[in-house]
Amino acid sequence: MKITVVGAGAVGASCAEYIAIKDFASEVVLLDIKEGYAEGKAMDLMQTASLNGFDTKITGITNDYSKTANSDICVITSGIPRKPGMTREELIGINAGIVKTVSANLISHSPNTIMIVVSNPMDTMAYLVHKSTKLHKNKIIGMGGALDSARFKYRLAEALQSPISDVDGMVLGGHSDTGMIPLTRFATRNGVPVSDFLSEERLSQVKEDTKVGGATLTKLLGTSAWYAPGAAVSAMVQAIACDQKKMFPCSVMLEGEYGLNDICLGVPVIIGKNGIEKIVKINLNKAEAENMKVSAEAVKKVNELL
Ligand SMILES: NC(=O)c1ccc[n+]([C@@H]2O[C@H](COP(=O)([O-])OP(=O)(O)OC[C@H]3O[C@@H](n4cnc5c(N)ncnc54)[C@H](O)[C@@H]3O)[C@@H](O)[C@H]2O)c1
Repeated sequence: MKITVVGAGAVGASCAEYIAIKDFASEVVLLDIKEGYAEGKAMDLMQTASLNGFDTKITGITNDYSKTANSDICVITSGIPRKPGMTREELIGINAGIVKTVSANLISHSPNTIMIVVSNPMDTMAYLVHKSTKLHKNKIIGMGGALDSARFKYRLAEALQSPISDVDGMVLGGHSDTGMIPLTRFATRNGVPVSDFLSEERLSQVKEDTKVGGATLTKLLGTSAWYAPGAAVSAMVQAIACDQKKMFPCSVMLEGEYGLNDICLGVPVIIGKNGIEKIVKINLNKAEAENMKVSAEAVKKVNELL
């Protein structure tokens, strides 16, 4: 199992680290355009191997795609992150060019790869990979919902004053401050609806805190977060590499599902060795379906900027 991560910055390196620590892959290739940067990150990470007990080999490369050849999974994290006060959508001008070039380079050396798109605005970047490459639609997966759902569970546990492992829940829709749809109606504490524990008002607060989860961290850190994004990508990579058939909300190309067409948007997806194994249809109520529609319209507007 060979995995390439493009972009050895905050998210890319965190993702490589979590993949290595879980010790399911033989090789992780980190590639960056900045001379020596990926080599440095890879060497530093390899020097944690004896301490953290993993055998995954991490190699760093400056922009030489021949070293990524025959990767089973490629992750794109290259591009600029947002600064405090910015929206993800504002990154499109620079990141679209980067994602287009990087995906083409990766596919030229790994035509059968499964690609996970992380760079923002992520739903539009996943759509761009669909439109600009010939990769099968089941092999292009945008990462956003796995992270947003982890943030949702964090906020739910905070409100419930419970351990996070007691909590389950999902965030669908666009990966943006306004487009996310935290599904409080489906969220549970050990199978019991969270509405049995929390008032409607408290649940609304959880929803709002979840939606601005990334912006809250960007304000605190001065740049966008990396530990939870890296962990979310690594969980998806592991689900593919180990054919776990786990369900994550992922941004995938919709062809009629949820009444939407020609758009990548966050919906529940089973992922395994073939990438997208199945898009899961859940019964949204009228308000949730309306939120999906509004979220999709906003993503389509950003797609038009491509
Ligand atoms: N989808 C999500 O949930 C999610 C979460 C967090 C961050 N992000 C996004 O991920 C991206 C990376 O964030 P970060 O915090 O790691 O940024 P960063 O600046 O720390 O790292 C980005 C890296 O990409 C490299 N790069 C730029 N152009 C490149 C190219 N053409 N080829 C190879 N490498 C190139 C840079 O040199 C840099 O090292 C941003 O767009 C950010 O908004 C997405």
